[in-house]
Amino acid sequence: MPRLGRQGGDTTDGPGSEGVPDVGVADTAMPTARAKRVAVFGLGYVGSVSAACLASRGHSVIGVDVSPEKADMVNHGRSPVVEERIGDLIAEHVAEGRLSATTDSEGAVARTDIALVCVGTPSTPSGSLQTSFVEQVSDEIGAALAGRGGRYTVVIRSTMLPTTCEQIVLPRLEAASRMYAGDGFGLAVNPEFLREGSSVRDFFDPPKTVIGQIDEASGDVVAELYEGLPGPVYRVPLGVAEMIKYADNSFHALKAGFANELGAVCKGLGLDSHVVMDILTSDTKLNISPAYLRPGFAFGGSCLPKDLRAFIHRARRADVPVPILESILPSNEGQVERVFRTIEATGKRRVGLFGLAFKPGTDDLRESPMVALAERLLGRGFELMIHDPQVAVSRLLGANRAYVDQRIPHLSRLMASSADAVVNHAEVCVVGAADPEAIAALGRVDGRIVVDLVRFPGSADYEGDPGYIGVSW
Ligand SMILES: NC(=O)c1ccc[n+]([C@@H]2O[C@H](COP(=O)([O-])OP(=O)(O)OC[C@H]3O[C@@H](n4cnc5c(N)ncnc54)[C@H](O)[C@@H]3O)[C@@H](O)[C@H]2O)c1
Repeated sequence: MPRLGRQGGDTTDGPGSEGVPDVGVADTAMPTARAKRVAVFGLGYVGSVSAACLASRGHSVIGVDVSPEKADMVNHGRSPVVEERIGDLIAEHVAEGRLSATTDSEGAVARTDIALVCVGTPSTPSGSLQTSFVEQVSDEIGAALAGRGGRYTVVIRSTMLPTTCEQIVLPRLEAASRMYAGDGFGLAVNPEFLREGSSVRDFFDPPKTVIGQIDEASGDVVAELYEGLPGPVYRVPLGVAEMIKYADNSFHALKAGFANELGAVCKGLGLDSHVVMDILTSDTKLNISPAYLRPGFAFGGSCLPKDLRAFIHRARRADVPVPILESILPSNEGQVERVFRTIEATGKRRVGLFGLAFKPGTDDLRESPMVALAERLLGRGFELMIHDPQVAVSRLLGANRAYVDQRIPHLSRLMASSADAVVNHAEVCVVGAADPEAIAALGRVDGRIVVDLVRFPGSADYEGDPGYIGVSW
């Protein structure tokens, strides 16, 4: 088992509704009293689906696109994109007068209260994100807001890297409108998790709704748009909402690549990869679960590194390249190095380590990343003192004893019998295990730099303290 840190990230409002029923369009139509007037900027895949589905929920929707052809298609009841059910929805709601399209952004803002920005954010040749369409729309909406009056809410649905909303969209809206965000207009980020091919179904049965909000009022406007849809609703800061989309897509890509590497090894060994993956995914305690997904310190122990090495070795013998699997141990070593550099950057020399075993509750030191960190620090001349109530050197036997003798023979000299002795020695305290004795000892002293690898209980009390450094938060 690897050493795990507490889950990072912001708090949520929790589930918005129970379960995930089979929701049809008719079931989710909004009562007219709640209907909003929405402008959807960009009539590509995301914009067309959002516009049609919002109209089918009873909202009054104007689609806006720079392409007169796309606007014309919508106004003639035809879809600009090919997607299951989208043609019927557009035809129905254009006929009913709830959906129309235009190229006139100013007119669209004048006749609505919410803008959903769904324009493209393609890659540049270097791989960076092209934000020019979002910038242009921000300028247009901002200019239209200048003469409009009344509260308006701008909601960014396009995929944008964290800080784009705050650093690019917000200043442009403010400059063009000559108003302040949160005052003259609302601003939110509402990433979209629909999959092309099933996006209408996904709209009405989303895995979750994420609302990044500049203020409560902006978030409320977005929440009301989707009121009654299944799935949890998360209200978070703008940057978190932007980040979730990248976290999700990176994870999806990693899963697909992992599954394919595993499949190739299985095939090379004459095994049915689908049977293997069926069993892997059936484990919702350790596999398809939050386990091992909490940013913290490196993993270690007597199993994960050893088994990964053996598996990669076997794949090589079967002539199966497994670049994702091969990158895991170097990535893990990088986490140890990152923590070492963090400690080094403090400029202090006396370091206290809390926790030495590879995870709390065990005395197993084999391939413990804390041992690797201790070695690195010792090698660079740091004055080290260690406390781990589970690791009493005098009692260590067998494999553990041999590990200590080979890897850090001076361990006994470095081990302190109390956490207080460590905090009294150290200028920098590294918390690698949320041991209550260590946390209590830290609370009794001032002026220590705390490097937290586990997000220990009570670490929130240190928030904003320049002496507190979370390893990944
Ligand atoms: N396609 C997907 O499945 C999907 C899923 C999730 C998120 N996203 C994200 O959503 C965003 C939109 O993706 P898409 O696939 O719908 O893009 P798209 O390229 O299909 O459509 C973008 C539309 O925006 C229009 N546009 C450009 N500038 C405009 C302006 N100034 N005013 C009005 N319209 C303008 C374009 O003419 C085009 O019709 C992207 O950020 C994308 O990464 C896409």
